[in-house]
Amino acid sequence: MSVSLKVNGTVHRVTADLDTPLLYVLRNDLGLNGAKFGCGLGQCGACTVLVDGAALRSCVMPIGALTQSEIITLEGLGTLEHPHPLQSAFIGEQAAQCGYCIAGMIMMAKAILDRNPHPSETDVRLGLVGNLCRCGVHNRIVGAILKAAQAMGRS
Ligand code: FES
Repeated sequence: MSVSLKVNGTVHRVTADLDTPLLYVLRNDLGLNGAKFGCGLGQCGACTVLVDGAALRSCVMPIGALTQSEIITLEGLGTLEHPHPLQSAFIGEQAAQCGYCIAGMIMMAKAILDRNPHPSETDVRLGLVGNLCRCGVHNRIVGAILKAAQAMGRS
């Protein structure tokens, strides 16, 4: 079946079953490999993207539910030349080890900052509770998000 999906401001027509998880379409059909397949069960956050501004697990979101939605992935946040303040802060704070969770972390962070312009450290930690990092870089990730909030004039 042919389905239209609006991703990072561009409407794409893809041929896939309506129950295909968004993550598969992003990675396999659109070549957007930022979001990662971690658990495939909605439990780790590696696949997090924004759907109409809300952070959702793309591994468990069927594309049939998203034909009217605005989807933003990591690739839609910034560019190499003009990175988003969150991307700059993650680099500046060296907030990654293996990097597998980072796209999901940044997208969740974007949702946190959009919802709460002046987050406390506790707000950030609570917001990230469903995003797992098995390398143990959480403290640097939290620091990067607080730095990004400062850079954006939000704290
Ligand atoms: Fe989607 Fe783990 S891969 S939540």
